[in-house]
Amino acid sequence: MPITTCIFDAYGTLFDVSAAAREAAAEPNRAKFAAVWPRVAQDWRLKQLQYTWLRAISDAHTDFWEVTQDGLDWAMENNDLADDELRARLLQLYWELSAYPEVPTMLATLKEAGLSTAILSNGSADMLAGAVDSAKLGDVLDDTLSVDSVGVFKPHKSVYDLVGKRFGCEPKEVLFVSSNGWDAAGAAGYGFQTVWVNRANEPVDRLPWRPHHIMKDLSAIPDLANSL
Ligand code: LAC
Repeated sequence: MPITTCIFDAYGTLFDVSAAAREAAAEPNRAKFAAVWPRVAQDWRLKQLQYTWLRAISDAHTDFWEVTQDGLDWAMENNDLADDELRARLLQLYWELSAYPEVPTMLATLKEAGLSTAILSNGSADMLAGAVDSAKLGDVLDDTLSVDSVGVFKPHKSVYDLVGKRFGCEPKEVLFVSSNGWDAAGAAGYGFQTVWVNRANEPVDRLPWRPHHIMKDLSAIPDLANSL
């Protein structure tokens, strides 16, 4: 069945989650942070994601902004950074993350081919609106779907259900693209066609499902969507 709908994870897939720490580290008077920022960024992301999974399985949902702050607080303490101004700056930068360079053209090509495009993200609706606006992607996305409306994080099935509810399509008509191996795996288990964007050349997650396709970046997504 041909692909009608291309769905993208947001953080790490369209938007570069390391950009906040990298940009803050390049600012004046941040020598201490500049020495440790890659580890802070890694700790921040890992804790943010762990908190989503733990909250999902313990039925303790909150919005993604709160787990983003909680993850940063853990990461800063783990790297011996007690700096309220830096914390505020990193959180501010998280609202205006850069999109990866190939994203605008890739999405425009999908739209020109007549496909529906949307984000499906753990992000809260207001965070996602901020990121889409600052990356100027509003014209090449049909919608931004947030877990806010179901009150649980990915990879819960009710999150992937949002796509069919919004676009009226079958799972096998959907190409789901994520840089998170566990998200691509969960979406494959759900029944979507899936791409794992593996920029860091990591091993495939050992889960009951595997992504159907693995790519280094997003540039070949339109060709793949047209070929399925
Ligand atoms: C998201 C996170 C998982 O955007 O990257 O849903």
